[in-house]
Amino acid sequence: MSTDRLKDKVIIVTGSGRSIGRGIAIRLASEGATVVTSSQTPANCGKVADEIKAAGGKAVSIPADVSKESDIQNLVDKTASQFGRLDVMVSNAGIALTKLAMETTAAEWNRIFQVNVLGTFLADTIAARQFIKQNTGGKIINCGSIASHSGFFGLPAYCSTKFAVRALTQSLARELAPKGITVNAYCPGVVDTDMWEEIDRDMTPMLGLSGKGAAKEAFRKQIALGRLQYPEDVAALVAFLASKDADYITGQAIITDGGIVMV
Ligand SMILES: NC(=O)c1ccc[n+]([C@@H]2O[C@H](COP(=O)([O-])OP(=O)(O)OC[C@H]3O[C@@H](n4cnc5c(N)ncnc54)[C@H](O)[C@@H]3O)[C@@H](O)[C@H]2O)c1
Repeated sequence: MSTDRLKDKVIIVTGSGRSIGRGIAIRLASEGATVVTSSQTPANCGKVADEIKAAGGKAVSIPADVSKESDIQNLVDKTASQFGRLDVMVSNAGIALTKLAMETTAAEWNRIFQVNVLGTFLADTIAARQFIKQNTGGKIINCGSIASHSGFFGLPAYCSTKFAVRALTQSLARELAPKGITVNAYCPGVVDTDMWEEIDRDMTPMLGLSGKGAAKEAFRKQIALGRLQYPEDVAALVAFLASKDADYITGQAIITDGGIVMV
């Protein structure tokens, strides 16, 4: 898809070194946005920016670990000084933990909250301060999940973080509306990415199954549309949320999952 719906928009996508974040960055650039790719792995986000430029799009990469406040501040400051503004923050970075609650350590619990919840809080609030400084309004788009709407077996810490992202999305939407800032979340289902390779490896024995792909297949059977999700499916929703077409939407955590969770 190539339109100019996001022409002149400067957009940061955290966790865009691979998988869903990469798909989002490529789609936003194809719609005319200037995209700042970012991940804690400089080589990966650099590669995605190069890929976008090779296809004729506009992109730079600025590495950042979302769990570090100074990294996010630097990401937003550098973006604003290079392009004169920031229009949209896509807070996509996240990690999974496939482990029963009874086996999860406090350190594991804290680490996943640091990346998924603190990381989203930092990206959102630091971007919002920039929008307020510019006096332009802006859009914050967080990465939730079907796990923001329902608890899943084997993913208690992960689901807790994604419920927290949905709560933050709703509260921030109310707080920032008077400043012309909307806050929404996209909530994917089972996307065939590196993250799901890990979940599959750890979840398969937990479900009493065996063989690579067994847990993925068990989840696939719950999808009304019958297939696993691609990053492109998620990117289409994010491009809409980043566009003017979504100006009257705020505080929502919108599911794109092929029909697993229906609320
Ligand atoms: N894969 C799925 O089925 C699925 C479903 C729903 C939601 N999600 C969410 O989508 C987002 C992306 O998931 P994915 O499947 O693409 O995962 P992935 O592991 O394949 O990619 C995650 C990206 O985030 C980056 N990242 C990880 N920790 C980071 C940190 N501390 N700071 C900066 N970047 C960091 C990684 O380097 C990588 O580029 C996550 O928030 C995830 O929870 C994924």
